[in-house]
Amino acid sequence: MPISQQVQNQMKGASWIRRMFEQGVELKKKYGERSVFDLTLGNPMVEPPASFRAALREAVEGDVVGAHRYMPNIGYEATRAAVARSLAGDMGVALSASRVVMTVGAASALNVVLKSLLNPGEEVIVLAPFFPEYRFYVENHGGKMVVVGTSEQFDLDVEMIAAAMNDRTKAIIVNSPNNPTGVIYGAESFRKLNEYLEDHRRRTGRTVYVVSDEPYRKIVYETRRSPSPLAYCRDTVLCSSHSKDLAIPGERIGFAVVGPDVEDGELLLNAMAFNVRTLGFVNAPALMQRVVAGLQDDSVSVDWYREKRDRLYQALVGAGYDCRLPGGAFYFFPKCPIEDDVEFVRRLAERRVLAVPGSGFGVPGYFRLSYCCEDWTVDGAIPILEELGGLGGKSVGAATKATKGVSQTAGDLRPGFPLN
Ligand SMILES: Cc1ncc(COP(=O)(O)O)c(C=O)c1O
Repeated sequence: MPISQQVQNQMKGASWIRRMFEQGVELKKKYGERSVFDLTLGNPMVEPPASFRAALREAVEGDVVGAHRYMPNIGYEATRAAVARSLAGDMGVALSASRVVMTVGAASALNVVLKSLLNPGEEVIVLAPFFPEYRFYVENHGGKMVVVGTSEQFDLDVEMIAAAMNDRTKAIIVNSPNNPTGVIYGAESFRKLNEYLEDHRRRTGRTVYVVSDEPYRKIVYETRRSPSPLAYCRDTVLCSSHSKDLAIPGERIGFAVVGPDVEDGELLLNAMAFNVRTLGFVNAPALMQRVVAGLQDDSVSVDWYREKRDRLYQALVGAGYDCRLPGGAFYFFPKCPIEDDVEFVRRLAERRVLAVPGSGFGVPGYFRLSYCCEDWTVDGAIPILEELGGLGGKSVGAATKATKGVSQTAGDLRPGFPLN
């Protein structure tokens, strides 16, 4: 076999992706595009804001000498300064361009950071339910993913994190607003996490880094911005992008920011610059760096999402699903009315509504619906969700504690999905 054993295993675990995708394609072929209601993807259907188009036009028409050349691996100074200025203003932390590394989306930021931090066998805690790609990112760099549960409300639980830590723990990936739950972790949770990590460092001499994955930071409904560990946890590296806030995931532009007081921050930044290069990205796309420099405080209108969120929420609750109103991002993570989430999603697909089983995120018994889709998709899905909601209401036995005590290692490969 020409490919590595690890990649074979990872692909086997992710074969669901292909099957689901193929099922969607088949259904669309059979019934027509507009008769299949696809709520699986996190690929924004909203167009980028007008300011993006204007900045793009300007960047293309401006005759800047050397605009298409290589640059320092960390990216243009002006763009990094703009990122730092905007985050510093939002979060009240002291940041300068020197703490920012431009990357090829949040995915590459996470890979650059993990490559810089991990020794073989070191552990990275992720909180279930979790973005399935984390497993591959951690394994890419010789690490071992350890899954820790969250509270009944899918909130960050410091005691559960503490119970999973050991002398191999190197980092914790935190994702708020969260994919798939839409939960925003509160400032108080981050304060508590910081207290615990500081105490851990005093007791053991070991620093555990908080890798904060925040591509949905600006997609929030009840507040202006979600709290970030960057403002509360000393050893935080923030990874983010403009995939969601400017709705330009295909342009692959993002950044990583090392907090002002991070232990050995300079060393880490040097390693990250080196790894932007060694992972083969070399630098983030030049044109996009110039475009987003002036758009750091911009975002798509969240009203586009809010309207769909509210309509779906009413329908789901009305049909007896147990689900929370998302505070951010654009996903619902309701409890399935039957115990088997894979079977439930299959029943939805039979009726041409595509969703993703919670098992893909490490939490069986739930399913994810994405509402970054067009209105007709939501309109078509609602009656079918209502019909299947009558399968037993809130009947998933122990599922209110579904994530309590969930703890897996990279050994138990569960099916994964490319769930952006
Ligand atoms: C939680 C989470 N992290 C990271 C990413 C990767 O985003 P990007 O397109 O910026 O690489 C996604 C994409 O959907 C995501 O949902």
